Amino acid sequence: MKHSRRSFLEAGFALPAVLHSAPGLATAQPPIAVSPQDSSFDPWVEIHRENLRHNIAEISRRVSARPVLAVIKNNGYGTGVANIAQLLEPLPEILGFAVVKLHEAFSLRDAGIRKPILLLGPFDEQDLADAVARDILPMVYTPLGPALDKIAAKTQKPVPLHICIDTGIGRVGVPYHQAAPLVRDLASRKSVRIQGTMMTFTEDPDFDKEQVRRFSETCSALEKQGVALGKKHAASSFSLFQHPDAFLDMVRPGMAIYGIYSENEFRRTNILDLRPAISLKARVIYVKKLRKGDSAGYNRAYMAKDDVWVATIPVGHADGWPRVAAKGANVRVNGDLYPVVASVSASHCIVEIGSEEKVKIGDVATFFDAQPGSRPEDVSESCGASVYDLTMHLNPLLPRRIV
Ligand SMILES: Cc1ncc(COP(=O)(O)O)c(C=O)c1O
Repeated sequence: MKHSRRSFLEAGFALPAVLHSAPGLATAQPPIAVSPQDSSFDPWVEIHRENLRHNIAEISRRVSARPVLAVIKNNGYGTGVANIAQLLEPLPEILGFAVVKLHEAFSLRDAGIRKPILLLGPFDEQDLADAVARDILPMVYTPLGPALDKIAAKTQKPVPLHICIDTGIGRVGVPYHQAAPLVRDLASRKSVRIQGTMMTFTEDPDFDKEQVRRFSETCSALEKQGVALGKKHAASSFSLFQHPDAFLDMVRPGMAIYGIYSENEFRRTNILDLRPAISLKARVIYVKKLRKGDSAGYNRAYMAKDDVWVATIPVGHADGWPRVAAKGANVRVNGDLYPVVASVSASHCIVEIGSEEKVKIGDVATFFDAQPGSRPEDVSESCGASVYDLTMHLNPLLPRRIV
């Protein structure tokens, strides 16, 4: 089953509400070390330090050592925004971080992150002043000159920022054909230091080429007029595979850092060797034999055709395991893959083990990890869940363990 990133974009940017209501719980937790004695049945998320390092080295090789602005929005794509920043910050390839929510930017500073943080998301004037006070770079695309003057007058130094130019995605960013006057206005102010200029691809391979052309023409016209645009950047994970001409001065990937191919067809190229750095696991809580004709799940979604062993695992859609997983995804237990059957409820799912009782209570069940067959892309391919949903929808309250 093909599942593209664009269906993720259509799904929007909804975050679990808890992220808004209790950001401290979700984002500012210190990394949790794995404990071999831990026998909790509840689900947990593992973050693989070595795989992260490997992925960053791979990205750096691919982009000829250009700096990497690591996109760690939406709770670090499920890893925990502070966890991931703490793991990545020491790596020399990482120039800084990009997040969308202001509270995530603040929680990074609270966690001691010192590298630059670019705020891709919205802010009001007070937020802007607060962000600047904490060395957070705003992404600007509206006439904010007077507000920036006020802030700079108070702090007695120019406000560093990035400018966002919309070359066709139509989401945020000043339209490229109206960008010049805005950029000139900002650049002419003593209150402003343009550190970067950016755009976002639509990830429509043909139109992307037109977007690069629009961006390059807009930037070079401004540069010819003496406007310094700072580091130009555009490349997300998709562009790492598709658009070497868009690597520019810096790249801005998210999903590739976590070792996941944003499009399944990229796995079949040898452009980048990515190793998943995020896993979802839990322990089997119940094993039983259904008799032929017995049912399982709400609405009796599953009917046993023969006597069959099933295992119940305490992972459901409230944990971030998508409902569509019941349409073909597999879960690994003791090295074997078993299909998710019936329906995924809020806190449980059921896997079909077969005619033999091969699984017991307490066995570790892996929903996705780095192994072929249970990679996030495998889950995506088998049931149609986007890899973005698999990672970003992981409940922020699940424990994160760095392994
Ligand atoms: C502005 C911007 N840049 C970069 C990224 C990273 O994208 P990806 O995770 O596909 O690499 C995103 C994520 O959607 C984004 O919104």
